[in-house]
Formats: sequence, structure tokens, C-alpha cells
Amino acid sequence: MKFVPIRLKIIRPSEKRRFDIYIMEKTKPILLLDKDLPLNENSPILEYNSNFIAFIPEKQLKEFKNFVSENLDDILNDSNISKRNKMYAMYVSMIDNMEELVNTRNINLCSKVTKDVSKFIAQTINDSMAISIMLSFIRNDSYNLALHMFNVGVYASMLTKRLHPELSTKKMEEISKGYFLHDIGMLKIDKKIITKRGKYTEEEYKEIKKHPEYGVEMLKNELKIFSPIMEKIILEHHERKDGSGYPYRKTEINEFARICSMADIFDAITSQREYKENVPKTTFEALREEKDFFIREFGKNKYEAFIKCFYIPTK
Ligand SMILES: [Fe+2]
Ligand SMILES: [Fe+2]
Repeated sequence: MKFVPIRLKIIRPSEKRRFDIYIMEKTKPILLLDKDLPLNENSPILEYNSNFIAFIPEKQLKEFKNFVSENLDDILNDSNISKRNKMYAMYVSMIDNMEELVNTRNINLCSKVTKDVSKFIAQTINDSMAISIMLSFIRNDSYNLALHMFNVGVYASMLTKRLHPELSTKKMEEISKGYFLHDIGMLKIDKKIITKRGKYTEEEYKEIKKHPEYGVEMLKNELKIFSPIMEKIILEHHERKDGSGYPYRKTEINEFARICSMADIFDAITSQREYKENVPKTTFEALREEKDFFIREFGKNKYEAFIKCFYIPTK
């Protein structure tokens, strides 16, 4: 049986679970709590410290993710749960909802993602430690559209907060929703093209380049909160300053679409894509080796602000 690690302390007493919890003793799994047993006030689980890592069977991973999504509000409001565990629960829930949206291609699920984004902003807007914790959960060892949209959403949101601290929470929410859904138009493109390994043919690339326009079309009718800023982010995140981008070869590009673009490129060079021959760059390497490119394309101000996003706050 394969196991995956989880942070034990987000499991709350007297909740219904549909997954077993194990601990590892010298690589040997020992069942701590069967999925049919309630977690009550006297459970030994409650004695473990807040950073304790437990394990669940890989085949019950979906049940675990559903549990976290369903209980996210309670977890976030529980004063006994540490900030790191709260951010972990938010991360699990956001990735789960994003994956469901991408895998089912059911556009109605965008509302689940945007609800998560509102919670994400509420938790992180005035808390640099929370953002730093969220960054530490970002995985670059695999690549798929859901993880990519999530990573870009986090990077671009924190960069926006740093460059535009004057923005209200409401405005930040609206902008971040655009970031987390920036590639939503990809869901209109044939799955075979999106998951293709290796280079695209000219025809395939032509189709890929339509995703900004597809994205706007999809959300305009579906999302009640769809706004001009979200439209700009989705439509212009592949435009380039010198007019070499797409779809319109614009040279005057919206500020938040620029921020999205920077985060998008950064995620592409730091993520492992199976078909890529070269090893992805670490955060440090990407920022150092691509410094000239980032400054030329986005300006010194954005580049320096982006670096500062990775500083670990001291309190
Ligand atoms: Fe894109
Ligand atoms: Fe993207």
C-alpha cells in the first residue's frame, strides 16, 4: 500500500472521515485511527504536536481532500489550529478545487475556485508570514494546468500586494481571481494538445494562442463577478512590451496583466515539465540567471519587488 503525508492537526474532533490515519514507525505503517472510528476528545491523536506528519493511504487521498474542502471554514476559524496548518488546509482545498475544475472542464466549478480565492486573500492580505508559508507549499516537481494556475495565482497576488499596497481587499480579490483563472481558456482546447509532450506543430500552437480569447468568452457569461480587470488579465497575459506577444500584439499592456505575465514566466522556468530536457531552475537560479530578461521585459521595480516576495519575514 502506498501512503501520502498529511499534517495531522487539521483533522478535527468528531468529524466524519472517510480515510484511515497511520503513523510511521521506522518506515513501518501503524494504523492510528480507522476511518470508521470517531475522533473524540480523548483520542491520542490530539496529543501530537502541531507539526506532526501522519500518513493516509494514497487511494484515500480524494476523501482526504474532500474532507479538508468541506471543513475549510471551521479549520480557518479554529483558534487552536496553527497558522501553518491553516495555510496547509487552504492549499489542499484550493488545489483540489482547481484540479476538479481542470479535470471535469465544468465551468460552473469556477465559483468554487473564486470562493477559495476570497478566503486566500482574507488570510494573506495583511500577513506576510501567511504568504511565506503558502509559498513554501508550492510544488515545482510536477506540472499540470491546475498546479500552474494555482502557482501563478499565488506569485502574482503577492507581487501585486507589494507593488500596489494601496489596493482595497475587495479590489485585491477581484484581481487575484483573474490571476488564478488566467489560463481558464485552455479548457476549451483539445486535451491532446494541452498534455502533449514535446514541441507543438504550427497548427497546435495557433490553437493554443487562442486561449486568452477563449477564456474571456467562457467567463463573461458564466461568472457573475467577471470584471474589466479580470478581462484584461486573461486577455493580455501573453502580450509583450515589444509587440511580439499574442493575441493582439499589443504594446500598451494592462499593469495587472504584466504582473500575471511575470508570474507565468517564472512558474514556467521553475517547474518540472516531463517533456523538458533541461532541469527546471530553482527560485534562486531563476531570479539570478534571468535577471536581465526580467528587468528588460518588466522593469527593475517589478523585478526587485518580486525578489522581496521570497524574503522570509522575521515575525
Ligand atoms: Fe496563458
Ligand atoms: Fe499560464
